[in-house]
Amino acid sequence: MDQHLLLVILMSFLPPKLTVNPLVIRERDSVTLNCQTPSSVSVDHCQFFTLRGQTLRDSSCLQTLTGTELLVADHQRLPAKVEVTCFYTVKLGEVNSPSPHSETLSISINSLLQPKLTLNSMMITETDSVTLNCQTPSTVPVTQCYFYFVRGKPSQRFSCLKTLTGSELLMLSLQNVPAEVEVTCFYLSTYQSPESHMLSITIQPPRPKLTMTTSLITEDESVTLNCQTPSSVSVLDCFFYSVREQSSRRISCVKTLTGAELLKMTHQNSPAEVEIKCYYTVKLKGGQYQSPDSKISSITIRSRQPQLIINTSLITETDSVTLKCQTPSSVSVYQCHFHIVNGGNFSDVCLQTLTGTELLNMAHQSPPAEVKVTCVYTVKLRELNFPSPYSEAHTLTIHLTDTATQMSSTTSICTLTSADKSMNPTSSDSNTDSEKLKDQKHQNEDSETYHVYVTIPEEPAESVLKNTMYSFLQAH
Ligand SMILES: *[C@@H]1O[C@H](CO)[C@@H](O)[C@H](O)[C@H]1NC(C)=O
Ligand SMILES: *[C@@H]1O[C@H](CO)[C@@H](O)[C@H](O)[C@H]1NC(C)=O
Repeated sequence: MDQHLLLVILMSFLPPKLTVNPLVIRERDSVTLNCQTPSSVSVDHCQFFTLRGQTLRDSSCLQTLTGTELLVADHQRLPAKVEVTCFYTVKLGEVNSPSPHSETLSISINSLLQPKLTLNSMMITETDSVTLNCQTPSTVPVTQCYFYFVRGKPSQRFSCLKTLTGSELLMLSLQNVPAEVEVTCFYLSTYQSPESHMLSITIQPPRPKLTMTTSLITEDESVTLNCQTPSSVSVLDCFFYSVREQSSRRISCVKTLTGAELLKMTHQNSPAEVEIKCYYTVKLKGGQYQSPDSKISSITIRSRQPQLIINTSLITETDSVTLKCQTPSSVSVYQCHFHIVNGGNFSDVCLQTLTGTELLNMAHQSPPAEVKVTCVYTVKLRELNFPSPYSEAHTLTIHLTDTATQMSSTTSICTLTSADKSMNPTSSDSNTDSEKLKDQKHQNEDSETYHVYVTIPEEPAESVLKNTMYSFLQAH
Protein backbone atom coordinates (compact mmCIF):
# COMPACT_ATOMS: atom_id res chain seq x y z
CA MET A 1 0.00 0.00 0.00
CA ASP A 2 2.75 2.41 0.90
CA GLN A 3 4.58 1.37 -2.18
CA HIS A 4 1.57 2.21 -4.36
CA LEU A 5 1.12 5.60 -2.82
CA LEU A 6 4.74 6.32 -3.35
CA LEU A 7 4.42 5.36 -6.99
CA VAL A 8 1.40 7.63 -7.48
CA ILE A 9 3.28 10.56 -6.07
CA LEU A 10 6.34 9.78 -8.09
CA MET A 11 4.39 9.50 -11.32
CA SER A 12 2.65 12.87 -10.82
CA PHE A 13 0.24 12.38 -13.72
CA LEU A 14 0.07 14.82 -16.57
CA PRO A 15 -3.30 16.54 -17.05
CA PRO A 16 -5.41 15.27 -19.95
CA LYS A 17 -6.04 17.42 -23.02
CA LEU A 18 -9.69 18.25 -23.61
CA THR A 19 -10.98 18.82 -27.14
CA VAL A 20 -14.54 19.81 -27.99
CA ASN A 21 -16.01 19.78 -31.45
CA PRO A 22 -17.88 21.94 -32.36
CA LEU A 23 -17.66 24.73 -29.83
CA VAL A 24 -20.99 26.28 -30.78
CA ILE A 25 -24.16 24.20 -31.09
CA ARG A 26 -27.89 24.38 -31.03
CA GLU A 27 -29.98 22.44 -28.51
CA ARG A 28 -30.55 19.38 -30.66
CA ASP A 29 -27.03 19.34 -32.17
CA SER A 30 -24.39 16.99 -30.81
CA VAL A 31 -20.98 17.85 -29.50
CA THR A 32 -18.06 15.45 -29.16
CA LEU A 33 -15.91 15.70 -26.06
CA ASN A 34 -12.53 14.00 -26.08
CA CYS A 35 -10.47 13.69 -22.92
CA GLN A 36 -7.06 12.83 -24.36
CA THR A 37 -4.92 11.00 -21.83
CA PRO A 38 -1.13 10.62 -21.95
CA SER A 39 -0.15 7.47 -23.80
CA SER A 40 2.32 6.50 -21.04
CA VAL A 41 -0.35 5.70 -18.43
CA SER A 42 -2.93 2.94 -18.34
CA VAL A 43 -6.18 4.79 -17.81
CA ASP A 44 -9.01 3.24 -15.84
CA HIS A 45 -11.70 5.75 -16.78
CA CYS A 46 -12.35 9.42 -17.64
CA GLN A 47 -14.71 11.86 -16.03
CA PHE A 48 -16.23 15.01 -17.56
CA PHE A 49 -18.04 17.58 -15.50
CA THR A 50 -19.53 21.01 -15.98
CA LEU A 51 -18.34 23.80 -13.72
CA ARG A 52 -21.83 24.80 -12.44
CA GLY A 53 -23.36 21.39 -12.46
CA GLN A 54 -22.33 17.81 -12.19
CA THR A 55 -20.46 14.87 -13.59
CA LEU A 56 -21.50 14.00 -17.10
CA ARG A 57 -22.85 10.60 -17.95
CA ASP A 58 -20.51 7.60 -18.10
CA SER A 59 -16.82 6.93 -17.77
CA SER A 60 -15.54 6.74 -21.34
CA CYS A 61 -12.93 9.26 -22.49
CA LEU A 62 -14.79 10.04 -25.72
CA GLN A 63 -18.38 11.18 -25.36
CA THR A 64 -21.02 12.64 -27.60
CA LEU A 65 -23.70 14.78 -25.97
CA THR A 66 -26.54 16.93 -27.23
CA GLY A 67 -27.01 20.59 -26.40
CA THR A 68 -30.09 19.68 -24.35
CA GLU A 69 -28.13 17.17 -22.25
CA LEU A 70 -25.47 19.80 -21.53
CA LEU A 71 -28.10 22.41 -20.58
CA VAL A 72 -29.78 19.97 -18.18
CA ALA A 73 -26.45 18.93 -16.63
CA ASP A 74 -25.44 22.55 -16.11
CA HIS A 75 -28.91 23.72 -14.94
CA GLN A 76 -29.10 26.34 -17.68
CA ARG A 77 -31.50 27.66 -20.29
CA LEU A 78 -30.93 28.80 -23.82
CA PRO A 79 -28.78 30.69 -24.75
CA ALA A 80 -25.97 29.43 -22.57
CA LYS A 81 -22.29 28.83 -22.24
CA VAL A 82 -21.47 25.50 -20.59
CA GLU A 83 -17.97 25.18 -19.24
CA VAL A 84 -16.55 21.66 -19.25
CA THR A 85 -13.41 20.04 -17.94
CA CYS A 86 -12.18 16.44 -17.51
CA PHE A 87 -9.73 14.22 -15.69
CA TYR A 88 -8.83 10.51 -15.80
CA THR A 89 -8.04 7.93 -13.16
CA VAL A 90 -5.34 5.27 -13.01
CA LYS A 91 -5.82 2.12 -10.95
CA LEU A 92 -2.84 1.17 -8.88
CA GLY A 93 -3.69 -1.92 -6.88
CA GLU A 94 -6.82 -1.05 -4.87
CA VAL A 95 -6.45 2.69 -5.34
CA ASN A 96 -8.02 4.65 -8.20
CA SER A 97 -5.89 7.75 -8.52
CA PRO A 98 -7.24 10.84 -10.31
CA SER A 99 -5.15 12.96 -12.66
CA PRO A 100 -5.09 16.78 -12.58
CA HIS A 101 -7.94 18.45 -14.42
CA SER A 102 -7.75 19.44 -18.06
CA GLU A 103 -8.16 23.06 -19.06
CA THR A 104 -11.74 24.34 -19.14
CA LEU A 105 -13.49 24.74 -22.49
CA SER A 106 -16.74 26.52 -22.98
CA ILE A 107 -19.47 25.23 -25.26
CA SER A 108 -21.95 27.81 -26.55
CA ILE A 109 -25.48 26.61 -26.97
CA ASN A 110 -27.90 28.91 -28.73
CA SER A 111 -30.62 28.85 -31.31
CA LEU A 112 -28.64 30.40 -34.16
CA LEU A 113 -28.67 28.44 -37.37
CA GLN A 114 -25.48 27.07 -38.84
CA PRO A 115 -24.31 29.07 -41.87
CA LYS A 116 -23.88 27.27 -45.17
CA LEU A 117 -20.48 27.59 -46.81
CA THR A 118 -20.19 27.20 -50.58
CA LEU A 119 -17.24 27.53 -52.96
CA ASN A 120 -17.32 28.18 -56.68
CA SER A 121 -14.24 25.99 -57.15
CA MET A 122 -12.60 23.22 -55.16
CA MET A 123 -9.32 23.13 -57.06
CA ILE A 124 -7.33 26.18 -58.07
CA THR A 125 -3.78 27.24 -58.79
CA GLU A 126 -1.99 30.01 -56.90
CA THR A 127 -3.05 32.63 -59.42
CA ASP A 128 -6.67 31.49 -59.71
CA SER A 129 -9.20 32.71 -57.22
CA VAL A 130 -12.07 31.16 -55.39
CA THR A 131 -15.18 32.80 -53.97
CA LEU A 132 -16.23 31.73 -50.49
CA ASN A 133 -19.87 32.28 -49.74
CA CYS A 134 -20.82 31.99 -46.08
CA GLN A 135 -24.61 31.97 -46.33
CA THR A 136 -26.20 33.12 -43.11
CA PRO A 137 -29.88 32.57 -42.29
CA SER A 138 -32.11 35.23 -43.87
CA THR A 139 -33.38 36.15 -40.40
CA VAL A 140 -29.89 37.20 -39.32
CA PRO A 141 -28.88 40.47 -40.99
CA VAL A 142 -25.09 40.16 -41.02
CA THR A 143 -22.69 41.12 -43.80
CA GLN A 144 -19.47 40.19 -42.04
CA CYS A 145 -18.54 36.57 -41.43
CA TYR A 146 -15.63 34.78 -39.81
CA PHE A 147 -13.53 32.17 -41.58
CA TYR A 148 -11.28 29.58 -40.01
CA PHE A 149 -8.41 28.54 -42.24
CA VAL A 150 -6.40 26.80 -39.57
CA ARG A 151 -7.98 25.39 -36.50
CA GLY A 152 -6.58 26.96 -33.36
CA LYS A 153 -5.48 30.14 -35.17
CA PRO A 154 -7.60 33.28 -34.99
CA SER A 155 -10.48 33.39 -37.41
CA GLN A 156 -10.46 36.00 -40.22
CA ARG A 157 -13.20 38.55 -40.49
CA PHE A 158 -14.27 39.12 -44.09
CA SER A 159 -17.41 39.96 -45.94
CA CYS A 160 -19.62 36.86 -46.07
CA LEU A 161 -19.00 36.71 -49.82
CA LYS A 162 -15.25 36.81 -50.20
CA THR A 163 -12.97 36.14 -53.16
CA LEU A 164 -9.42 34.99 -52.41
CA THR A 165 -6.55 33.92 -54.65
CA GLY A 166 -4.67 30.67 -54.22
CA SER A 167 -1.66 32.53 -52.85
CA GLU A 168 -3.79 34.37 -50.31
CA LEU A 169 -5.26 31.06 -49.17
CA LEU A 170 -1.75 29.64 -48.80
CA MET A 171 -0.75 32.62 -46.66
CA LEU A 172 -3.87 32.40 -44.50
CA SER A 173 -3.42 28.67 -43.95
CA LEU A 174 0.36 28.96 -43.44
CA GLN A 175 1.09 26.45 -46.21
CA ASN A 176 3.08 26.05 -49.42
CA VAL A 177 1.84 24.84 -52.78
CA PRO A 178 0.55 22.18 -53.32
CA ALA A 179 -1.79 22.28 -50.34
CA GLU A 180 -5.22 21.40 -49.04
CA VAL A 181 -6.83 24.38 -47.37
CA GLU A 182 -9.69 23.48 -45.04
CA VAL A 183 -12.12 26.22 -44.27
CA THR A 184 -15.24 26.73 -42.14
CA CYS A 185 -17.18 29.88 -41.35
CA PHE A 186 -19.49 31.29 -38.73
CA TYR A 187 -21.16 34.61 -37.99
CA LEU A 188 -21.80 36.69 -34.94
CA SER A 189 -25.28 37.71 -34.04
CA THR A 190 -25.98 38.24 -30.34
CA TYR A 191 -23.93 35.07 -29.98
CA GLN A 192 -21.48 33.20 -32.09
CA SER A 193 -23.20 30.95 -34.58
CA PRO A 194 -22.30 27.28 -35.01
CA GLU A 195 -19.61 26.68 -37.63
CA SER A 196 -20.48 25.68 -41.15
CA HIS A 197 -19.44 22.34 -42.57
CA MET A 198 -15.79 22.15 -43.41
CA LEU A 199 -14.83 22.45 -47.07
CA SER A 200 -11.44 21.85 -48.57
CA ILE A 201 -9.79 23.77 -51.41
CA THR A 202 -6.85 22.22 -53.23
CA ILE A 203 -4.15 24.68 -54.29
CA GLN A 204 -2.44 23.11 -57.26
CA PRO A 205 1.04 23.91 -58.49
CA PRO A 206 1.05 25.82 -61.80
CA ARG A 207 0.13 24.14 -65.06
CA PRO A 208 3.19 23.17 -67.14
CA LYS A 209 3.60 24.47 -70.67
CA LEU A 210 4.24 21.93 -73.41
CA THR A 211 6.29 23.21 -76.32
CA MET A 212 7.53 21.45 -79.46
CA THR A 213 10.25 22.40 -81.88
CA THR A 214 7.95 21.60 -84.80
CA SER A 215 4.45 20.35 -85.39
CA LEU A 216 5.03 18.49 -88.65
CA ILE A 217 7.56 15.71 -89.12
CA THR A 218 8.01 12.54 -91.09
CA GLU A 219 8.75 9.21 -89.42
CA ASP A 220 12.47 9.78 -89.82
CA GLU A 221 12.54 13.34 -88.56
CA SER A 222 12.51 14.20 -84.91
CA VAL A 223 10.88 16.66 -82.58
CA THR A 224 11.93 17.92 -79.17
CA LEU A 225 9.18 18.01 -76.57
CA ASN A 226 9.64 20.32 -73.63
CA CYS A 227 7.36 20.09 -70.61
CA GLN A 228 8.16 23.47 -69.07
CA THR A 229 7.65 23.37 -65.33
CA PRO A 230 7.56 26.40 -63.04
CA SER A 231 10.81 27.29 -61.32
CA SER A 232 8.98 27.79 -58.02
CA VAL A 233 8.35 24.08 -57.46
CA SER A 234 10.81 21.23 -57.25
CA VAL A 235 9.73 18.73 -59.87
CA LEU A 236 10.11 15.00 -59.29
CA ASP A 237 9.19 13.67 -62.74
CA CYS A 238 7.57 14.70 -65.99
CA PHE A 239 4.93 12.61 -67.71
CA PHE A 240 3.66 12.75 -71.28
CA TYR A 241 0.06 11.77 -71.74
CA SER A 242 -1.27 10.43 -75.03
CA VAL A 243 -4.82 11.64 -75.56
CA ARG A 244 -5.58 8.71 -77.87
CA GLU A 245 -4.11 6.05 -75.61
CA GLN A 246 -5.37 7.74 -72.46
CA SER A 247 -2.19 6.67 -70.79
CA SER A 248 0.91 8.43 -69.69
CA ARG A 249 4.54 7.55 -69.48
CA ARG A 250 7.39 8.99 -67.52
CA ILE A 251 9.96 10.72 -69.71
CA SER A 252 12.51 13.40 -68.95
CA CYS A 253 10.99 16.89 -69.10
CA VAL A 254 12.89 17.66 -72.32
CA LYS A 255 12.87 14.78 -74.77
CA THR A 256 13.71 14.36 -78.45
CA LEU A 257 11.75 11.69 -80.29
CA THR A 258 11.53 10.62 -83.92
CA GLY A 259 8.22 10.42 -85.72
CA ALA A 260 8.56 6.64 -85.74
CA GLU A 261 9.08 6.58 -81.96
CA LEU A 262 6.05 8.79 -81.41
CA LEU A 263 3.97 6.51 -83.62
CA LYS A 264 5.15 3.46 -81.73
CA MET A 265 4.42 5.09 -78.41
CA THR A 266 0.87 5.90 -79.43
CA HIS A 267 0.31 2.72 -81.46
CA GLN A 268 -0.44 4.57 -84.67
CA ASN A 269 0.62 4.37 -88.28
CA SER A 270 1.65 7.30 -90.40
CA PRO A 271 0.19 9.59 -91.42
CA ALA A 272 -1.12 10.37 -87.98
CA GLU A 273 -1.85 13.17 -85.66
CA VAL A 274 -0.38 12.59 -82.22
CA GLU A 275 -2.03 14.56 -79.46
CA ILE A 276 -0.15 14.83 -76.21
CA LYS A 277 -0.11 16.84 -73.04
CA CYS A 278 2.20 16.73 -70.07
CA TYR A 279 2.16 17.05 -66.32
CA TYR A 280 4.70 16.75 -63.54
CA THR A 281 4.84 15.48 -60.01
CA VAL A 282 6.04 17.21 -56.87
CA LYS A 283 6.61 15.95 -53.35
CA LEU A 284 3.76 16.54 -50.90
CA LYS A 285 3.96 15.36 -47.30
CA GLY A 286 6.04 12.30 -48.11
CA GLY A 287 3.81 11.41 -51.05
CA GLN A 288 3.60 12.67 -54.61
CA TYR A 289 1.28 15.26 -56.01
CA GLN A 290 0.34 15.53 -59.66
CA SER A 291 0.26 18.93 -61.34
CA PRO A 292 -2.59 19.97 -63.61
CA ASP A 293 -2.17 18.95 -67.25
CA SER A 294 -0.65 21.26 -69.84
CA LYS A 295 -2.78 22.21 -72.81
CA ILE A 296 -2.97 19.59 -75.56
CA SER A 297 -0.33 19.88 -78.29
CA SER A 298 -0.62 18.07 -81.53
CA ILE A 299 2.07 16.89 -83.91
CA THR A 300 1.46 15.54 -87.37
CA ILE A 301 3.60 12.67 -88.56
CA ARG A 302 3.63 12.36 -92.31
CA SER A 303 4.34 9.13 -94.08
CA ARG A 304 7.49 8.68 -96.14
CA GLN A 305 7.84 10.40 -99.51
CA PRO A 306 6.87 8.56 -102.67
CA GLN A 307 9.28 7.72 -105.53
CA LEU A 308 8.57 9.11 -108.95
CA ILE A 309 9.49 6.64 -111.68
CA ILE A 310 9.45 7.66 -115.33
CA ASN A 311 10.19 5.40 -118.25
CA THR A 312 12.04 8.11 -120.15
CA SER A 313 13.24 11.61 -119.55
CA LEU A 314 13.61 12.71 -123.14
CA ILE A 315 10.60 12.82 -125.41
CA THR A 316 9.24 14.67 -128.38
CA GLU A 317 5.87 16.40 -128.42
CA THR A 318 4.19 13.33 -129.80
CA ASP A 319 5.94 10.76 -127.61
CA SER A 320 4.36 9.44 -124.48
CA VAL A 321 5.92 9.13 -121.09
CA THR A 322 4.71 6.95 -118.27
CA LEU A 323 4.84 8.42 -114.80
CA LYS A 324 4.50 6.20 -111.80
CA CYS A 325 4.16 7.52 -108.27
CA GLN A 326 5.44 4.64 -106.16
CA THR A 327 4.06 4.85 -102.62
CA PRO A 328 5.29 3.07 -99.49
CA SER A 329 3.63 -0.32 -99.14
CA SER A 330 2.69 0.38 -95.52
CA VAL A 331 0.23 3.16 -96.26
CA SER A 332 -3.19 2.94 -97.79
CA VAL A 333 -3.14 5.56 -100.48
CA TYR A 334 -6.25 7.52 -101.29
CA GLN A 335 -5.02 9.47 -104.31
CA CYS A 336 -1.79 10.31 -106.13
CA HIS A 337 -1.11 13.64 -107.72
CA PHE A 338 1.64 14.64 -110.10
CA HIS A 339 2.86 18.13 -109.73
CA ILE A 340 4.62 20.32 -112.24
CA VAL A 341 7.13 22.46 -110.38
CA ASN A 342 5.94 26.05 -110.77
CA GLY A 343 2.84 24.66 -112.45
CA GLY A 344 -0.29 22.83 -111.47
CA ASN A 345 -1.34 19.41 -110.33
CA PHE A 346 -2.65 16.72 -112.56
CA SER A 347 -4.11 13.25 -112.29
CA ASP A 348 -5.50 11.50 -109.25
CA VAL A 349 -4.17 8.06 -110.00
CA CYS A 350 -0.68 6.76 -109.30
CA LEU A 351 0.10 5.64 -112.87
CA GLN A 352 -0.30 8.13 -115.67
CA THR A 353 0.72 8.25 -119.34
CA LEU A 354 1.05 11.63 -121.05
CA THR A 355 2.28 12.97 -124.34
CA GLY A 356 4.92 15.66 -124.64
CA THR A 357 2.27 18.08 -125.88
CA GLU A 358 0.04 17.46 -122.89
CA LEU A 359 2.94 18.09 -120.54
CA LEU A 360 3.90 21.26 -122.37
CA ASN A 361 0.36 22.56 -122.19
CA MET A 362 0.17 22.00 -118.51
CA ALA A 363 3.54 23.63 -117.97
CA HIS A 364 2.54 26.53 -120.26
CA GLN A 365 5.70 26.05 -122.28
CA SER A 366 6.65 25.38 -125.86
CA PRO A 367 9.32 23.00 -127.12
CA PRO A 368 12.14 22.60 -126.57
CA ALA A 369 11.48 22.77 -122.85
CA GLU A 370 12.34 21.16 -119.57
CA VAL A 371 9.48 20.26 -117.27
CA LYS A 372 10.13 19.34 -113.67
CA VAL A 373 7.71 16.84 -112.23
CA THR A 374 7.22 15.53 -108.71
CA CYS A 375 4.50 13.45 -107.16
CA VAL A 376 2.61 13.33 -103.92
CA TYR A 377 -0.01 10.99 -102.50
CA THR A 378 -2.76 11.56 -100.03
CA VAL A 379 -4.15 9.43 -97.25
CA LYS A 380 -7.63 9.82 -95.83
CA LEU A 381 -7.29 10.61 -92.14
CA ARG A 382 -10.46 11.35 -90.17
CA GLU A 383 -12.25 12.68 -93.26
CA LEU A 384 -9.24 14.82 -94.17
CA ASN A 385 -7.13 14.34 -97.24
CA PHE A 386 -3.63 14.17 -95.87
CA PRO A 387 -0.74 14.89 -98.30
CA SER A 388 2.59 13.08 -98.14
CA PRO A 389 5.88 14.89 -98.69
CA TYR A 390 6.70 15.41 -102.39
CA SER A 391 8.87 12.93 -104.21
CA GLU A 392 12.20 14.00 -105.61
CA ALA A 393 11.71 15.99 -108.80
CA HIS A 394 12.44 14.54 -112.25
CA THR A 395 13.22 16.69 -115.26
CA LEU A 396 11.55 15.78 -118.53
CA THR A 397 13.10 17.24 -121.64
CA ILE A 398 10.65 17.77 -124.47
CA HIS A 399 12.05 18.38 -127.93
CA LEU A 400 10.49 19.25 -131.20
CA THR A 401 9.89 16.07 -133.12
CA ASP A 402 12.49 16.89 -135.77
CA THR A 403 15.20 17.82 -133.30
CA ALA A 404 14.66 14.61 -131.37
CA THR A 405 15.05 12.54 -134.51
CA GLN A 406 18.20 14.32 -135.48
CA MET A 407 19.63 14.08 -132.05
CA SER A 408 18.86 10.43 -131.52
CA SER A 409 20.34 9.40 -134.86
CA THR A 410 23.68 10.83 -133.76
CA THR A 411 23.82 8.78 -130.60
CA SER A 412 24.78 5.17 -130.53
CA ILE A 413 24.77 3.75 -127.04
CA CYS A 414 21.40 2.11 -126.98
CA THR A 415 19.38 -1.02 -127.39
CA LEU A 416 15.74 -1.43 -128.01
CA THR A 417 13.49 -3.66 -126.01
CA SER A 418 9.89 -4.62 -126.39
CA ALA A 419 7.64 -1.82 -125.22
CA ASP A 420 4.98 -3.93 -123.59
CA LYS A 421 7.33 -5.79 -121.26
CA SER A 422 7.56 -3.18 -118.58
CA MET A 423 7.46 0.49 -117.99
CA ASN A 424 10.37 0.22 -115.63
CA PRO A 425 13.76 1.39 -116.76
CA THR A 426 16.12 -1.33 -117.85
CA SER A 427 19.80 -1.52 -118.30
CA SER A 428 21.08 -0.75 -121.75
CA ASP A 429 23.46 -3.67 -121.56
CA SER A 430 21.15 -6.45 -120.57
CA ASN A 431 17.61 -7.69 -120.68
CA THR A 432 17.94 -10.25 -117.92
CA ASP A 433 15.40 -10.02 -115.15
CA SER A 434 17.94 -9.78 -112.38
CA GLU A 435 19.68 -6.89 -114.06
CA LYS A 436 16.37 -5.13 -114.56
CA LEU A 437 15.47 -5.55 -110.91
CA LYS A 438 18.82 -4.24 -109.84
CA ASP A 439 18.52 -1.18 -112.01
CA GLN A 440 14.99 -0.52 -111.00
CA LYS A 441 15.96 -0.71 -107.36
CA HIS A 442 18.87 1.58 -108.01
CA GLN A 443 16.69 4.13 -109.64
CA ASN A 444 14.16 3.99 -106.83
CA GLU A 445 16.84 4.63 -104.30
CA ASP A 446 18.21 7.79 -105.76
CA SER A 447 15.91 9.48 -108.14
CA GLU A 448 18.53 10.95 -110.40
CA THR A 449 17.82 12.34 -113.78
CA TYR A 450 18.34 9.80 -116.54
CA HIS A 451 19.44 10.56 -120.03
CA VAL A 452 18.34 8.65 -123.01
CA TYR A 453 20.54 7.72 -125.86
CA VAL A 454 18.59 6.43 -128.75
CA THR A 455 19.52 4.94 -132.05
CA ILE A 456 16.84 5.27 -134.61
CA PRO A 457 16.99 2.74 -137.41
CA GLU A 458 15.83 3.43 -140.95
CA GLU A 459 12.19 3.08 -140.02
CA PRO A 460 10.18 6.31 -139.55
CA ALA A 461 10.44 7.71 -136.04
CA GLU A 462 6.72 7.39 -135.29
CA SER A 463 6.48 3.64 -135.68
CA VAL A 464 9.66 2.98 -133.75
CA LEU A 465 8.42 5.05 -130.85
CA LYS A 466 5.18 3.11 -130.75
CA ASN A 467 6.81 -0.29 -130.51
CA THR A 468 9.89 0.27 -128.49
CA MET A 469 10.88 1.10 -125.07
CA TYR A 470 13.92 3.26 -124.70
CA SER A 471 16.57 2.07 -122.41
CA PHE A 472 18.67 4.58 -120.67
CA LEU A 473 21.81 5.05 -118.78
CA GLN A 474 22.31 6.79 -115.53
CA ALA A 475 23.61 10.32 -115.57
CA HIS A 476 27.05 10.96 -114.21
C1 LIG B 1 -1.24 19.84 -105.48
O1 LIG B 1 -1.75 18.82 -104.64
C2 LIG B 1 -1.20 18.83 -103.33
C3 LIG B 1 -1.75 17.64 -102.62
O2 LIG B 1 -3.14 17.61 -102.61
C4 LIG B 1 -1.56 20.14 -102.66
O3 LIG B 1 -0.97 20.19 -101.39
C5 LIG B 1 -1.03 21.28 -103.49
O4 LIG B 1 -1.44 22.49 -102.90
C6 LIG B 1 -1.54 21.19 -104.91
N1 LIG B 1 -0.90 22.21 -105.67
C7 LIG B 1 -1.52 22.90 -106.62
C8 LIG B 1 -0.70 23.91 -107.34
O5 LIG B 1 -2.70 22.72 -106.87
C1 LIG C 1 6.93 5.02 -121.95
O1 LIG C 1 5.60 4.57 -121.79
C2 LIG C 1 4.68 5.01 -122.79
C3 LIG C 1 3.32 4.51 -122.42
O2 LIG C 1 3.29 3.16 -122.13
C4 LIG C 1 5.12 4.50 -124.14
O3 LIG C 1 4.24 5.00 -125.13
C5 LIG C 1 6.52 4.99 -124.43
O4 LIG C 1 6.98 4.45 -125.60
C6 LIG C 1 7.44 4.55 -123.30
N1 LIG C 1 8.75 5.11 -123.60
C7 LIG C 1 9.86 4.39 -123.47
C8 LIG C 1 11.11 5.10 -123.79
O5 LIG C 1 9.83 3.20 -123.16
